Amino acid sequence: MSVLVENDGGVALVTIDRQDALNALNVETLTELRDRLRELAADDTARVVVLTGAGEKAFVAGADIKYMGGLDPAQAKGWGALGHEAAWLLEEMPKPTIAAINGFALGGGCELALGCDIRFASTRARLGQPEIDLGIVPGWGGTQRLARVCGLGVAKELILTGRMIDANEALRIGLVSAVADPVVHHALGVARKLAEKSPLALRVAKLLLNLSPGALDREAEEFGDLFASADAKEGLAAFAEKRPPQFTGK
Ligand code: CAA
Repeated sequence: MSVLVENDGGVALVTIDRQDALNALNVETLTELRDRLRELAADDTARVVVLTGAGEKAFVAGADIKYMGGLDPAQAKGWGALGHEAAWLLEEMPKPTIAAINGFALGGGCELALGCDIRFASTRARLGQPEIDLGIVPGWGGTQRLARVCGLGVAKELILTGRMIDANEALRIGLVSAVADPVVHHALGVARKLAEKSPLALRVAKLLLNLSPGALDREAEEFGDLFASADAKEGLAAFAEKRPPQFTGK
């Protein structure tokens, strides 16, 4: 088993552990990751998901290059679809997802981090989309999500050059929200705070943030619907009563 899930008080920590290949993802590991993410998406006891890599060196050093060397176009499309599904689950599951980038996050590793709602990096993290130097392009969402997170100009520069950036540059361009050591502690701290919030409001906030711009009708509708929930009543009342809210998910 190379993907470990530990659920502690509503915060699920997912650790990818294939350290002899810097946590690069082969079919077995990526399938395992996809399956665990599917389960977490449906598991109400997991209110926030934190994704990290095992060991000191890597978050995920990318898709397994040795495996990809033998793929024909049809197989490569299937491989791309599997990575897309994992990144899509991180992006769309109805609860916050956080990447704790503890080392190399390259190629598919950076793309999985981009699928997460929030990214934090350790001081020794190195990020990038080096596919261009392998004669390929990002295949697990990087061409779209990097542009959405950092802007089209930055995404073009990073993807066309394939250069690796350090944690401070990642912070400067908005690819990560904070640099902290040990990054997994920082991410778990933020996750625990999120786990105290209303899961209903978090789900709707994420859904709305993921909509394409211009979807204001949908925002108005979802915003209004939330007012039928006990959590919205509780949260609004608690503010007025100067006490912490007690959310029940109802
Ligand atoms: N795939 C397969 N094996 C990998 C790997 C990868 N992506 N990254 C590292 N490894 C393996 C190395 O081959 C090496 O294995 P051996 O000991 O058996 O030779 C082991 O991990 C340790 O790596 P290094 O000795 O290279 O470690 P280093 O500290 O000298 O260098 C590194 C670290 C700069 C990250 C370097 O390993 C590297 O450049 N890795 C490849 C990064 C990359 O190009 N990632 C993108 C892949 S393409 C992709 O992801 C496509 C997509 O969009 C889906």
